[in-house]
Amino acid sequence: MTSQSPEFTDRTVVITGAGSGIGRASAIAFAQAGAHVLAVGRRTDALEETAAESPRIAVHPADIRVPGAAEEVVRVAIDRWGHLDVLVNNAGATKVMPLADTTAESIAALFDLNVTAPSLLACAALPHLRRARGSILNISSTFGHRPLPGAAHYAASKAALEQLTRSWAVELAAEGIRVNALAPGPTESQALAAAGLSSTVIEQVKRDEAARIPLGRRGEPAEVAAWVVRLADPSTTWLTGQILTIDGGLELA
Ligand SMILES: NC(=O)c1ccc[n+]([C@@H]2O[C@H](COP(=O)([O-])OP(=O)(O)OC[C@H]3O[C@@H](n4cnc5c(N)ncnc54)[C@H](OP(=O)(O)O)[C@@H]3O)[C@@H](O)[C@H]2O)c1
Repeated sequence: MTSQSPEFTDRTVVITGAGSGIGRASAIAFAQAGAHVLAVGRRTDALEETAAESPRIAVHPADIRVPGAAEEVVRVAIDRWGHLDVLVNNAGATKVMPLADTTAESIAALFDLNVTAPSLLACAALPHLRRARGSILNISSTFGHRPLPGAAHYAASKAALEQLTRSWAVELAAEGIRVNALAPGPTESQALAAAGLSSTVIEQVKRDEAARIPLGRRGEPAEVAAWVVRLADPSTTWLTGQILTIDGGLELA
């Protein structure tokens, strides 16, 4: 459990994909640290389950790929709390797509969610982040900087997010806005089911991943969330443009 931090008291955090996995754990951790949290995702029931963990969490059901969604998310946060300090671009999806099965529609759908939506959210949040000298945290993946055979476009979409992170960090540094990324390794969540894999395949993938990870297991969302909060913490004043990998050592294996 994250204890309440004076640095987060009454700060406002918008986090996408907060109805499950890493996003839910992070929303709860931010709320425990004293922040007001706007939890965004498509499924109202999943968001409500997250919000049930803390009165500091409000929900905003939205598909962030829809035109106008980014402006609406930011408007809801500002109407409610008057300021926006942290944007966490967490919503994302993976897709099994060997080169032989690649289609324009599948690439566009993946990049709409993993690259375009975070970009438009950051753009909509920018005037408020300027005022707050706030920060953006993008959730990449350990596969944003290493190969992922069979899901190359997922890896490429996260590589794009990492490059956006570095470029925005320099672009916005003079305004006191920090931009960082967290690159988790395989973590318990709904991601594999959301990718359409069967339960048998999911169990096999999980066993294979755990066997390749030096620490011998997949991560838990709360272990990742602790670093989400740390990187976004306003007291982390001199860290920008960095990609922190948290993957049980997988990157070294
Ligand atoms: N778990 C891992 O092994 C792992 C590893 C590296 C990186 N990551 C990254 O971590 C982030 C969180 O994933 P997770 O593992 O926690 O998976 P998850 O449980 O599937 O969470 C993804 C969340 O994104 C939301 N979402 C999906 N499409 C959306 C849309 N169009 N608009 C709004 N929200 C949408 C989903 O909620 P709705 O369906 O209700 O919209 C869901 O709550 C992702 O960016 C993922 O790529 C995960």
